[in-house]
Amino acid sequence: MNKPRLYSGMQPSADSLQIGNYIGALMQWRTLQDENEAFFSVVDLHALTQPNSPSELRQKTRRTAAQYIAAGIEPSRSTLYVQSHVPAHAELAWILSTITGFGEAGRMTQFKDKSSRYGADATNVGLFTYPVLMAADILLYQTDLVPVGDDQKQHIELTRDLAERFNSRFGETFTMPRPVIQKETARIYDLQNPTSKMSKSAESDAGVLWLLDDPKATAKKIMRAVTDDEGSVRYDREAKPGVSNLLVIYSALTGREMGSIEDEYAGRGYGDFKKGLAEVVVGEFEPVRTRALELLDDPAELDRALGVNAERAAAVADRTLADVYDKMGLLRRV
Ligand code: TYM
Repeated sequence: MNKPRLYSGMQPSADSLQIGNYIGALMQWRTLQDENEAFFSVVDLHALTQPNSPSELRQKTRRTAAQYIAAGIEPSRSTLYVQSHVPAHAELAWILSTITGFGEAGRMTQFKDKSSRYGADATNVGLFTYPVLMAADILLYQTDLVPVGDDQKQHIELTRDLAERFNSRFGETFTMPRPVIQKETARIYDLQNPTSKMSKSAESDAGVLWLLDDPKATAKKIMRAVTDDEGSVRYDREAKPGVSNLLVIYSALTGREMGSIEDEYAGRGYGDFKKGLAEVVVGEFEPVRTRALELLDDPAELDRALGVNAERAAAVADRTLADVYDKMGLLRRV
């Protein structure tokens, strides 16, 4: 029996991943790589939709890959590679763009948010076609499951629509992918602004917990996290967004039920709770950080592992692309 295929990726858009990427995606990837045939990419072509200096982009790409490995993704078992190393991604994205409606792409909420933030002149066409490239990533690998945070759900719906459209026009070609989204941890919020999603590209750094940050800085940010005046450690997303977000993080990292954490801190103040959480987060991040920095000390070895994995990925992707070209009537090169 073949194992189900799993595909996911992250943008190398910062020097470090943040705790939302870790809890919303990486922790799931780590568990799911056992029962599935997994592909994990560092989506550097997607990151080109934001301004970057070339040397920084290279650096962020290696750092992202190092954090995958440090967090437990094993390059000998899962195929962990850099998107631009497999040209089929850009090629299939072009093909899929020819069956994507202009209005359909314009309805993507991430595009709408970003383009309204930047203004028309600063919004590039790549940002508009971003979800089409993401669909290409997923469909090239005949993916069954896509573990992501909740913000990617709409992009996966588009991917499914495109797969269905292609299959019905040109014949059965793509596997229909399904998102895997953990309900409670699908969205981790900014510690300073607990009603907006924590993001690598947040305007202020104060509410973002970075995987590679110094442990003291991480603890300090947790101690300063926004809470409320009630003083009781209790989950209530509506009335207590700050405390609830901290409880979700606590529970996700320890695997403990929310209720047991509430009981432990009953009658104690937020200070104690935050101190406990800081220990949990620092304890979780520390080995990952140490290992990631070790891997980054030997970039040649890291690049070698990524190269081997890219070859494995390309073997699968090229097969799908050849089938697509054929089905659409592109003349075969002899
Ligand atoms: P990116 O780099 O923004 O985020 C990577 C993953 O982290 C999740 N995530 C979060 N989860 C919970 N709480 C948060 N605050 C939070 N912030 C981010 C995201 O949902 C994502 O799973 N478009 C994708 C990258 C991509 C991709 C793909 C993913 C490109 N091609 C194919 C899956 C399959 C993105 O921007 O991820």
